[in-house]
Amino acid sequence: MKLTDHEKAMRDGAHGAARARAMDLLIRYGEALGAERLVETNNVAGAFNASTPSIRHIAEQGFDKVYSELNLDSDETVEIPHVTASTCQLITGIDNDNWKLQGVDPQLAELQKQSERYLGQRGINLMATCTPYQVGNVPVKGEHCAWMESSAVIYCNSVLGARTNVEGKESTGAAALTARIPYWGYHLPENRFGNRLIEIDVEIDDMMDWGLLGYFVGYAVEENIPVLSGVTRQPNLVKLKHFGAAAASSGGVEMYHIPGVTPEASSEAEAFGPNRPVERIRYGQAERQAIFERIQSATDRKLDFVMLGCPHNSIEQMALIAELLEGRRIHPDVQLWVHTPRAIKQIAERSGYCEVIEKAGGVVMSDTCPAISRRMPEGVRVIATDSAKQAHYLPAIAKVQGWFGSVRHCIDAAVAGEWRGELA
Ligand code: F3S
Repeated sequence: MKLTDHEKAMRDGAHGAARARAMDLLIRYGEALGAERLVETNNVAGAFNASTPSIRHIAEQGFDKVYSELNLDSDETVEIPHVTASTCQLITGIDNDNWKLQGVDPQLAELQKQSERYLGQRGINLMATCTPYQVGNVPVKGEHCAWMESSAVIYCNSVLGARTNVEGKESTGAAALTARIPYWGYHLPENRFGNRLIEIDVEIDDMMDWGLLGYFVGYAVEENIPVLSGVTRQPNLVKLKHFGAAAASSGGVEMYHIPGVTPEASSEAEAFGPNRPVERIRYGQAERQAIFERIQSATDRKLDFVMLGCPHNSIEQMALIAELLEGRRIHPDVQLWVHTPRAIKQIAERSGYCEVIEKAGGVVMSDTCPAISRRMPEGVRVIATDSAKQAHYLPAIAKVQGWFGSVRHCIDAAVAGEWRGELA
């Protein structure tokens, strides 16, 4: 791999042991991928927190040990300096305010707080959300990033036009210290053109429609780059957030184009560039109905848990939930957890939305989600969610039955204690 003088100096230890470890990791990783060089990045989104029970024995040896082992893949403990690249913490396993409700051991909750102080002292911004682009980390078109979390990566590449592969704990840990990441995959302009055409022949409007379409597209194109034609209504952040998260769950989609909407596709021709569509895939009313049926893993209509906010809710979604819950009461056998970034929760509190949700019997959570924390209320058997991603993962992770539908379906189910959602 070709290295600049500065990169060689980092590798050889002139900038400290931690950066030498980080460079060694990035060089090995890049060479394994066939990257010819590294690229500068000043935007890293990774997972740094000590929030899982298995981490406790490592943390007993100090947080430098945690970073060395988990974020640099180093058996030797090195002293971790302040990060070089602008870096944020993604989602964690523990809500710092609602850890008791999550059933988290007090020592582990305290460990997470100590870990956050350590990370903050090193310049890691504790956004604690899978949607950093909702709370201030918004890379611009063409910017090279090193992001983890599939729903964030697909948004970064497709909607923002910034460039990232799906990175891991180790590569983001190394990128934070060196401001470098291997130059391969979606960093290269020639790898960003579409190769599958999705011909949409049904109106795609609300968030549920976009989630269903994403879920269908993921299965249909797997790890390819779809180009959507036939989108007649302008989507917004919330809809594209749900579309991308779903496509990255049922398939491994990391980038898509919507001509006239996403920044690298002013037209279908620009979206495909030198490529020709390898396959044309139709999405009409029959496909919509079939994917709606496929995503439901529940048969029992009596439910115990409703989860909203995957990916983490925007402020508009918080407002909508409050509007739907105003003056209503959640069924005594059901628990409702609503997930939003902590920064948005503050706006929701100030706007009175949290009060309405809590008065109705719901809980507003930040920093985490059930799929990442693997924590839900005790004894849950049947869940309902407005997220295709959560409907895909939770039944497998937690061995529960899952219903998927609109926010309205989910709120009505939370109030009635029973699922009545159908496709309109
Ligand atoms: Fe975010 Fe958890 Fe969903 S990380 S995208 S809320 S599975």
